[in-house]
Amino acid sequence: MPVHQSVLADFAAVVSAAQTRVLETASQAIAERGTFRLALSGGSTPKALYEQLATSAADWAHWQIFWGDERYVPNDHPDSNERMARQAWLNRVPIPTDQIYPLPTQSADPWQDAAIAAADLRRAFQLSEGDWPVFDLILLGLGDDGHTASLFPGTAALDEQTRLVTVGDRDGQPRLTFTVPLINQARSVVFLVSGAAKQEAVKRALAAVGDSQQTPARLIQPQAGQLYWLLDRAAAALL
Ligand code: 6PG
Repeated sequence: MPVHQSVLADFAAVVSAAQTRVLETASQAIAERGTFRLALSGGSTPKALYEQLATSAADWAHWQIFWGDERYVPNDHPDSNERMARQAWLNRVPIPTDQIYPLPTQSADPWQDAAIAAADLRRAFQLSEGDWPVFDLILLGLGDDGHTASLFPGTAALDEQTRLVTVGDRDGQPRLTFTVPLINQARSVVFLVSGAAKQEAVKRALAAVGDSQQTPARLIQPQAGQLYWLLDRAAAALL
């Protein structure tokens, strides 16, 4: 699994590099397979990327959008990753609405919604039970505690090896998250990391040896895919 680390001058450069990576991957996927399947990260870092994509030229009719994790809130809640991406980007480009697959949070039972999300994935990828979806690109962020998606340190979600989607736990608050084996099936995974607050987590995540339970981002090792770390100088200061 090739790992590409890029240390860029500042956050704007990280966003620009990510925009290029997403658009190039999309063009290649559409040329080769007729569709581009992208899973989005949440939090604050990717919002600027989504705003850039909103003004990009792309073959939107062939994009399929998913989320790699979601806070367990209604999709109109300020904390919703779906809400953020729709407002920053998806409401402003003509991706067909039936090609956008939010993680469901309506059943009041995260485990039921995780199962619904897995069924949605199998349908979107036209897979039978037991097959794993292969995303063209999965965007990820990094928490200052070393988490990624909603795979938090010391939680059971880190050990899930059979489900596609599981229930994460952030200080007792449920989340929905892609599992490690699902993420590691991807053709490419791109971490976007910015700011000095992340420098310890970046150092632990990229160290030759370390504890994946403490730094779950270390678990992201695409089996056959490409792994990209797009870092600004502040986040990479301890490398
Ligand atoms: C989420 C994200 C999460 C995020 C990191 C970094 O739902 O919050 O998926 O994994 O990427 O927590 O968040 P920031 O970009 O806000 O620092």
